[in-house]
Amino acid sequence: MKKIRKAVLPVAGLGTRFLPATKALPKEMLTVVDKPIIQYVVDEAREAGIEHFIFVTGRNKTAIEDHFDVAVELYDTLSRRGKTEILERLQALQPEPGQTSYTRQQVPLGLGHAVWCARELVGDEPFALLLPDMIMQSEPGCMKEMVELYERTGGNVLAVEECDPSQTHKYGIVGRGKNAHSGFEITAMVEKPKPEDAPSNFYINGRYILQPEIFSLLEDQETGAGGEIQITDAMLRLHAKQPFFAHIYRGRTFDCGSPEGFIKANIALALQQESLKPQVLGFLKDFLDEEGLA
Ligand code: G1P
Repeated sequence: MKKIRKAVLPVAGLGTRFLPATKALPKEMLTVVDKPIIQYVVDEAREAGIEHFIFVTGRNKTAIEDHFDVAVELYDTLSRRGKTEILERLQALQPEPGQTSYTRQQVPLGLGHAVWCARELVGDEPFALLLPDMIMQSEPGCMKEMVELYERTGGNVLAVEECDPSQTHKYGIVGRGKNAHSGFEITAMVEKPKPEDAPSNFYINGRYILQPEIFSLLEDQETGAGGEIQITDAMLRLHAKQPFFAHIYRGRTFDCGSPEGFIKANIALALQQESLKPQVLGFLKDFLDEEGLA
């Protein structure tokens, strides 16, 4: 069985839900407490043993490349000023030379198309796919648990969570088959079905382990829900030839693709930092009292 060494991170989205904040700034660079969203996702992948990060970018995304680069002048200045703690933290977050690759999705044709743009960089090996809107919080991380499942089952692995049955139209939904380790065998996949057409209420939460045969299925650029080239449709076709397993993720998920999820992530993660907790909690209590919201 081939090890999962590479991760694809599709970061070409325009971030229209966050305008005007995202007019000049990639949405993946919006800050949750003290790190950009994309850093949390890269950290999750790194914890799972990923050695190479493939970013599928678009116009106005150079801030992401700069973020993962060595900032020579900044590091020198911090070093001269004796700010070793923050310097060491920055260096620890930094990928090694040659561990990042960037390619562009020239036209926004959908998630399936973005993944297909990474085909040459992934090559002929299974890979992880992490949608950077989602910050996952668990120990061990979601992708690490998925790699563990993959090492037992092989095939393809998707992380799933349960949603309110009325919300299936927002997600890719899978059908539940026989139990398997931390999840189950997947029997069906539908992108954004109406509740009455959904095979279950288990939704794909944005973490995938896929075999490279997915690329030839994405090649024909067939469009699906919303007129976009959907990864879910290509996975369904791959499912006719290869098994798919669901890992039931039981940690916390913050969907930072929406302003509500982004704000929740900031509040929750701030309250988890000992240095911020007393001040933030005190402020929230006073604010709720003052506004009559308590
Ligand atoms: C994408 C996928 C969908 C998945 C979702 C998770 O949809 O197509 O299957 O459930 O991410 O966030 P999007 O959010 O891009 O519409």
